[in-house]
Amino acid sequence: MSEHFIARPGGAVRGSLRVPGDKSISHRSIMLGAIAEGTTRVSGFLEGADAISTMNVFRAMGVRIDGPVEGRVTVEGVGPHGLKAPSADLDCGNSGTSMRLLSGLLAGQGFEARLVGDASLTRRPMKRVTEPLARMGARIDTSDGRPPLRIHPPAGRLHGIDYAMPVASAQVKSALMLAGLYAEGTTRVTEPAPTRDHTERMLTAFGVPVEVDGATVSVRGGATLHATAIDVPADISSAAFFLVAGAIARDADLLLRHVGTNTTRTGIVDILKLMGADLTLENPRTVGGEPVADLRIRSSSLRGIDVPPELVPLAIDEFPVLFVAAACARGRTVVTGAQELRVKESDRIAVMADGLRALGIDATPTPDGIVIEGRGDDAYVFSGGEVDSHGDHRPAMAFSVASLRAAAPIRIADTANVGTSFPNFVELAREAGIDVQRVGTR
Ligand code: S3P
Repeated sequence: MSEHFIARPGGAVRGSLRVPGDKSISHRSIMLGAIAEGTTRVSGFLEGADAISTMNVFRAMGVRIDGPVEGRVTVEGVGPHGLKAPSADLDCGNSGTSMRLLSGLLAGQGFEARLVGDASLTRRPMKRVTEPLARMGARIDTSDGRPPLRIHPPAGRLHGIDYAMPVASAQVKSALMLAGLYAEGTTRVTEPAPTRDHTERMLTAFGVPVEVDGATVSVRGGATLHATAIDVPADISSAAFFLVAGAIARDADLLLRHVGTNTTRTGIVDILKLMGADLTLENPRTVGGEPVADLRIRSSSLRGIDVPPELVPLAIDEFPVLFVAAACARGRTVVTGAQELRVKESDRIAVMADGLRALGIDATPTPDGIVIEGRGDDAYVFSGGEVDSHGDHRPAMAFSVASLRAAAPIRIADTANVGTSFPNFVELAREAGIDVQRVGTR
């Protein structure tokens, strides 16, 4: 794969866009639809490689899934015990969400399955899910805590546990809740800080009682899921690139339509507002159990801040582009408590610090964050030059946004994985006014 991006300076950033569907909700719509009774109809589904990986995994276990066609998918649920033993490895591609949630969902099945992923996913920690699942009676072999995962049927039935998560991870919480559907008794998970609650909301929409008591969520085993219709809102994590683009570009006024604004995801909005962004939520409404709004962003005079650590899990995927915003702010921005960024699709602290420094920014990585000296008073914040996204979609898109305030073109290496979460990024970015071009083959 030799694809790269060239992003050229300038651009106005105006108009009205709808970014693709939410990745987290898209994954869950397939998983819950597959083990439900009846037909689940999904609209607004993300046609990105990660969600397609989840779809193909369930097809390989005998689930009929039609689509996606213009964001519409139909899942013929097979019921909780209707999945079939796969005849080959289940390939999760680049997707940590697929692998971690599937490890929970498959832990209680009566067949063996092997979950594999690409080079990036194969480096990512899996003990965070396999260890608590083992306490429930799951039998999962890892390769020294990493993929591939070989999941054996449990000796008897799984049993519910009370688990206090050491990391604030929605993927871990969700894996345990999905395993909990197959467990005897109640599974209780307590999180150290709030994380995205799409699994809780969607299980409720499928008719499964989910109890939330402060930081603890519980599910009882043996519930039946009833198929439902799911309208997936636009992904705030994809909208984030345009929120920062609008904030840092001159003369910008951009409307992002139908964006999911679940408060477990709006850390990006809160952080940008703390930095002084001219950002408003318009026409708030609820669609299929999830809050949605149109987000309007205008050119902003940003200031550096100490990012409140409690907002970190609520903006965890948005930091690459927030670092670009910080470089365009007046004064210093300090991020702490964000060590999870080191185990995403790449080490996002290292990849972003290296790239920002290559573009002339004073950026100092720390074990759990970064310190960025903003250059918001300069006409050109970034020098232009070459950066490497290390095959990680979010840094690739973040550096494209940086071109709006660059003195010269930015060449961004290894960008093919942008398709995992935002397949039409280049087209929408160009429509908004960012001069980015895809070069080479996927
Ligand atoms: C996700 C949870 C987050 C996030 C990922 C999607 C999910 O991971 O980074 O992109 O859909 O549950 P963690 O919960 O492990 O932080």
